[in-house]
Amino acid sequence: MKVLSVVGARPQLVKLAPVAAALSAAGHRHRIVHTGQHYDADLSDVFFSGLSIPDPDVRLGVGSGSHGVQTGAALAALDEVFAEERPDWVLVYGDTNSTLAGALSAVKTGLPVAHLEAGLRSFNRRMPEEHNRVLTDHCADLLLAPTEEAVRHLAREGLAARTRLAGDVMVDVCLRTRDEVLAARPAAPPAGVPAGRPFLLATLHRPGNTDDPARLAALIGALAGLPLPVALLVHPRLAARAREYGVELARGSVRVSRPLPYAELVAAVLASAGVVTDSGGLQKEAFLLGRPCTTVRPETEWVETLDGGWNMLVPDPYELPRDRWARLAARPAPRAARGAPYGDGSAAGRVVRLLEEEGAAGG
Ligand code: UD1
Repeated sequence: MKVLSVVGARPQLVKLAPVAAALSAAGHRHRIVHTGQHYDADLSDVFFSGLSIPDPDVRLGVGSGSHGVQTGAALAALDEVFAEERPDWVLVYGDTNSTLAGALSAVKTGLPVAHLEAGLRSFNRRMPEEHNRVLTDHCADLLLAPTEEAVRHLAREGLAARTRLAGDVMVDVCLRTRDEVLAARPAAPPAGVPAGRPFLLATLHRPGNTDDPARLAALIGALAGLPLPVALLVHPRLAARAREYGVELARGSVRVSRPLPYAELVAAVLASAGVVTDSGGLQKEAFLLGRPCTTVRPETEWVETLDGGWNMLVPDPYELPRDRWARLAARPAPRAARGAPYGDGSAAGRVVRLLEEEGAAGG
């Protein structure tokens, strides 16, 4: 079987790692196309080296741009790649512009396409990711759902026949990395945060949080006012908007640092007292690693993380009284059991088996 993975952005590289390993272990041919949506070394190269992912076979170099420009550039370039490679499956990951381009190009070229992380929904139609995941699910041939909840969403949209429960491949890579980190070194805070003291780990990059100057300033103000150090890992979008709007990031409790390679991120979550984020992946990583998470969004696709108070949604923290916000963000880890709603860490093998079976059955 020949599988062609289309990736472009950081979270997809994390998911690609266990899938690439499982495809190789099963003796299948695998081609990797990197659209170049993320091009900074911090968001791309360090994931290939750190997670032992084979180098991409094709780099499209689409770079940044408006949604139309970015998606369109990838779409145009992929037609040619698909025509040349003719894989048995095109595999797309998640909800980015690269994913939508990969799915659309595959379906138009007549190639079977599978969507890993199908069925996630925020029901927030202002999010570009929501457009991308709904459209991708409706054009893909095989919907690899990470959770029972995702399976239900797809069934409600009339897509049950194409849906299979695969589990979440992020669990595979997160738990494996956790074990490696714990075996190799004591979990360490990011640079700039004093060792041995409780701190929070924070990220913000969603357009809904970064692209309005007043909201961005208020959110950074809320982090700056917390009573313990906040290690803010600065995504390029956040850096660019903060510069443009004149919002100082490094103030009060906030210590800024660059985005971390995956193993260092896992080490930082383990060393932290909790996480404040708007990232989908980090909400789940906090949950898997047993740290309380506060999500700066009105909703989450990963609703299972909310059970037992492991994750809490606080869309406008600057509107809360300061002490209440501090108690919330720095709350201790709940006692509630977390269960294993995202699977047991063997999802990548299941993904490969489903591709084999469904491919043999005619895609
Ligand atoms: C994208 C995904 C989002 C994912 C996130 C993870 C879409 C619509 N969004 O959001 O689902 O959670 O990646 O990081 O696909 N930039 C750089 N260097 C880079 C990449 C981006 O400087 O390597 C800057 C550019 O100014 C760019 C901006 O960041 O315009 C945003 O990048 P973009 O790919 O549009 O979206 P993300 O916010 O990264």
